[in-house]
Amino acid sequence: MMPPPQRQGVGSAHSKLILIGEHAVVYGQPAIALPFPLLNVTSTVENGNNGIYLTSEFFTGPISNLPNQLKGIGMCIFETLDKLQAPTKELHIRLVSNIPIGRGLGSSAAIAVAIVRSLFSYFEQKLSRQTLMSLVHVAETYAHGNPSGIDMACVSSTKPIWFEKGEEVVPIHLAQPLHLLVADTGRVGDTWSAVTAVRKSYLSKNTGTKASIERLGALTIKARENLAGDQSMELGRLLNAAHEELVNIGVSDEGLDQLVKAAQQAGALGAKLTGGGRGGCILALAHNQNHAEELSQALLDVGAQQTWACTLSSE
Ligand code: PMV
Repeated sequence: MMPPPQRQGVGSAHSKLILIGEHAVVYGQPAIALPFPLLNVTSTVENGNNGIYLTSEFFTGPISNLPNQLKGIGMCIFETLDKLQAPTKELHIRLVSNIPIGRGLGSSAAIAVAIVRSLFSYFEQKLSRQTLMSLVHVAETYAHGNPSGIDMACVSSTKPIWFEKGEEVVPIHLAQPLHLLVADTGRVGDTWSAVTAVRKSYLSKNTGTKASIERLGALTIKARENLAGDQSMELGRLLNAAHEELVNIGVSDEGLDQLVKAAQQAGALGAKLTGGGRGGCILALAHNQNHAEELSQALLDVGAQQTWACTLSSE
């Protein structure tokens, strides 16, 4: 059955912040990730007349012409249409996103989730979580090599999550709101090369990397205990310690370290890089909302390109 004219399907997803545990999560350690609804993407699908055509800030044209770094999105679209046994491949997909790309905020996973949701909506089919994850995995594998799956789990979750590779995702309750400041170095990170470099070191005789990965796991377990109580001072210390371990495994850089230091000097309870690193963003834990705004100014003063202050709570 051909879809009637002016039919529309809409899907969206938000970005994510890895609070603690990135990189270690690839080796089976736990990680905690938070939905970050300030930044989000919406995909709208309508009838087209030009094959599958994508309109977005970063690429406009037929998806057969997608640049290399976006080919995973194209593969995900084809897999989704196959799954839907789509009766037409004349579609116009429009993306509107305010998630900066390549900053460890889950843009690629959020785009893929939004597109899959919008295609299922367009063809009026129910989308199970399992199907969503398996379709988005196609795009994430292309972008990241061998992703742990934390990004796609978090950008499609409304709750903070406890994530262990290959295990059921567990929602986490925050006993107290988290006042966070996210600051962007303005430089695109390269998760793929960071993950590859860590793996090389992990598989070599570099016991330092292995020990850091294990310590990151232990810090994450402690962070979960702190989130369940009101121990933000201790949580801040854990974030600082996690940043040190990420420095040890070689995924931080001068720009990230400078922002982390500036946040700590401005009184942040803790600060660390978030996501793949080597560019991208840091997050800092503030005392309250006003303090998060103060941290924002301090980080802009030392060269952050942009910042976002937010309070996340279980409500
Ligand atoms: O996509 P990013 O940059 O947020 O990185 C994802 C987190 C990593 O642990 C570095 C990789 C992974 O697959 O878990």
